[in-house]
Amino acid sequence: RREEQRASLHEVMELAATFFQSRLQAREGAAARGYLADRGLTPAIQAEFGIGYSPNEKFALRDHLAGKGVDRDAMIEAGLLIHGEDIQVPYDRFRDRIMFPIHDVRGKVIAFGGRAMDKEASAKYLNSPETSLFHKGACLYNHHRARKAAHEKGGVIAVEGYVDVIMMSVAGFGHTVAPLGTALTEDQLNLLWRMSEEPVLCFDGDKAGRRAAYRAVDVALPQIGPGKTLKFALLPGGQDPDELVRSSGATAVSEVLQGALPLSDILWERETQSGDFSTPERRAALERKLMDALAPIRDETVRRHYRADMDNRLRSF
Ligand code: CTP
Ligand code: MN
Ligand code: MN
Ligand code: MN
Ligand code: MN
Repeated sequence: RREEQRASLHEVMELAATFFQSRLQAREGAAARGYLADRGLTPAIQAEFGIGYSPNEKFALRDHLAGKGVDRDAMIEAGLLIHGEDIQVPYDRFRDRIMFPIHDVRGKVIAFGGRAMDKEASAKYLNSPETSLFHKGACLYNHHRARKAAHEKGGVIAVEGYVDVIMMSVAGFGHTVAPLGTALTEDQLNLLWRMSEEPVLCFDGDKAGRRAAYRAVDVALPQIGPGKTLKFALLPGGQDPDELVRSSGATAVSEVLQGALPLSDILWERETQSGDFSTPERRAALERKLMDALAPIRDETVRRHYRADMDNRLRSF
C-alpha cells in the first residue's frame, strides 16, 4: 500500500511538472518567458531542466490535476495545495512563480522550487513542504545529473541557488548541486562525499554566503579525514556563481575554483577576521576557541595535524 502510494505521488508530481512546463509555453507564460530570456535561460536550458511556470491563479493546478483524476488528498500529500483548518478551500501553493522541479537521485520529480515573478512577493523562493517523497535536508538540487558528471570530472561543486546550478552547468560545470534553501546539512554533506573526496563549496560572495561557509565548517569537522574534506571557493565582489558566469564566463569560474581554499584556512579566517588580538589574554582566548572548534574532529590523526596547523598560525600571527 505504501509503495503504491509513493508511486502515485510520483505520478502526481510528474503531472504537475508537465503542467507547469506547458503553462510556461502558454500565453500566460509570456512574462515568465521574458524573465527567463533576460536571465540567459534559453528555451533549450528551460527544457533540459524542466523549468515551468505556475499561473497567477488559485486553482489552476488543482483543477488541472482533478481533470486527470487525481484526488484532493493526493494533491495535498504531494505538497501542491495550501490547506489547513482555517482554510475553507485548498488552493494552489505555487502561483505566479518560475518553477524548478527538484528530482531524487534517480531523476524522479519529488518537489518544486518556485521563484517569485513579483518583486513584492513575501518570499523570493518558495519550496515544496516536507512530504513523504521530499525531505529537504537530505536532498540536493541537480543530484541526479551531477552524480554522473562528478564521475567524469572527478569532483563536485555545491552552490546556493537553482539558477547558480543551471548557469554553472551551462558553463561546463555540470557537476554542480545546491542545498535547497537550507544551511548545508550533515546528510547533504554525506551525499557530496559520496561523489567526491573533496567537494568544493562555492557559495555567494556576500555576507550570507560567507556565513553559510563558516557554518559548513562545523558541520564537516567531525567527519573529515585523510581523503575526506572540503574546499571553499570564494567569489569576488559579492557575486554569486550565476552572476560570475554571466559577467566573466567559464574561465573566470575555473580560476575561482582553482583558487579554492582548504577547510583549515576558512576556520582560521572565521576565528580571526574580526576582533582585537593585541594582548596575550586575547590571543589565549583565540587559541582556546580554535582548539574547541577542533575537538569534534573524530579522526585522531587529522585532529593532531589540525592542532599543529593552528599552533603554527598562532605563532606567526
Ligand atoms: N532562498 C530561499 N528563500 C529566499 C531567498 C533565498 O529559499 N527568500 C534560497 C534559494 O534556494 C536561493 C538561495 O537561498 O536560491 C540563495 O539565495 P539568493 O542568493 O538570495 O538567491 P539567488 O539564488 O541568487 O536568486 P536569484 O538569482 O534568482 O535572485
Ligand atoms: Mn522525470
Ligand atoms: Mn544570497
Ligand atoms: Mn545568490
Ligand atoms: Mn542569483
